[in-house]
Amino acid sequence: MTILVTGGAGYIGSHMVLELADAGEPVVVLDNLSTGFAWAVGEGLPLVVGDSGDQALVERLIHQHQVDAIIHFAASVVVPESVNDPLRYYRNNTVNTRALIECAVKTGVRHFIFSSTAAVYGDPAKIPVPETSPQQPMSPYGWSKLMSEVMLRDAGRAHDLHYMILRYFNVAGADPRGRAGQSSKDATHLIKVAIEAALGARDKLQIFGADYATPDGTCIRDYIHVSDLVRAHSDALRHLRSGAPSQTLNCGYGRGFSVREVIDTVKRVSGVDFRVEIAPPRPGDPARIVADSAQARAVLGWQPHYDDLSTIVTHALGWERELTKRRAAYADQAKRTAAGSKR
Ligand code: UFG
Repeated sequence: MTILVTGGAGYIGSHMVLELADAGEPVVVLDNLSTGFAWAVGEGLPLVVGDSGDQALVERLIHQHQVDAIIHFAASVVVPESVNDPLRYYRNNTVNTRALIECAVKTGVRHFIFSSTAAVYGDPAKIPVPETSPQQPMSPYGWSKLMSEVMLRDAGRAHDLHYMILRYFNVAGADPRGRAGQSSKDATHLIKVAIEAALGARDKLQIFGADYATPDGTCIRDYIHVSDLVRAHSDALRHLRSGAPSQTLNCGYGRGFSVREVIDTVKRVSGVDFRVEIAPPRPGDPARIVADSAQARAVLGWQPHYDDLSTIVTHALGWERELTKRRAAYADQAKRTAAGSKR
């Protein structure tokens, strides 16, 4: 039986595909390559370019590959972008997820793992945040994911569809073996941006707000290594396949770091003292959010291996250097191809 991974050419999805392939699981990747890269999908693995909301295509894939489980990553994920363009987020995240759930129900796919987010909690009153905390998103991104959660839960009650909703906290880092990492061009995520500043790809880093009610005035987040996050998905799939009930689980470590602490770690690990300036707060940003991850550990037996900010930054830095080399090689190749076609 095959696992359909939507968004498998993207940052988290490509790590998932590597993990599944390493475990010998048959996979098929569906990605529209709007932010992902074909080269990010492991060699020899099937990549179909298309939308997760294209029901005819998805149903064909499910039948062709005998899909028994869907891991659904494909989504737009930038909080401030969702504030400026909410309808795109509701289409890409909510409408497309509805279509995909319907395909699963129609074709009899029994297992569904959904990428949700800590953004569903908004600015929580209680830290760390358990799954039972009130859900009050502060951005269209958070709402687009919460609406998808509700649809999945209701479809799960009505049909033979078993799901795991995983609420990711701040995902960062890269494959420890250097095979994958975050490759998006106009990155907005803090660790990626700080590393680009350290490597000279940006002239400075802006801290979005330094007057929050936190010890150093900057926002606090729970950064989780991408490899630990994808491991939680494998654990979740095993759990579903064993017949265990549907669940909603937080994925974080339960420890928070401020923006300033992250910047200090990137400066220390890279050895570069890049320029930092204070800028106004970003709309949609909660002051502090940290996971209560006891449930994921208890229910799935999930055990993180890279719960250390310096390790996360070291792996992210290693990938950024590799990416710079790859981009240069691709540009070189493109130049040579262009020169060849002129001859
Ligand atoms: N930040 C800066 N400067 C930057 C980039 C980020 O100060 O150049 C700050 C942000 O204001 C925020 C923190 O760093 O306080 C983290 O920001 P990110 O953009 O890295 O991540 P977010 O917290 O906005 O969002 C991420 C995921 C969401 C998830 C959320 C949960 O992208 O999917 O974490 O907290 F919902």
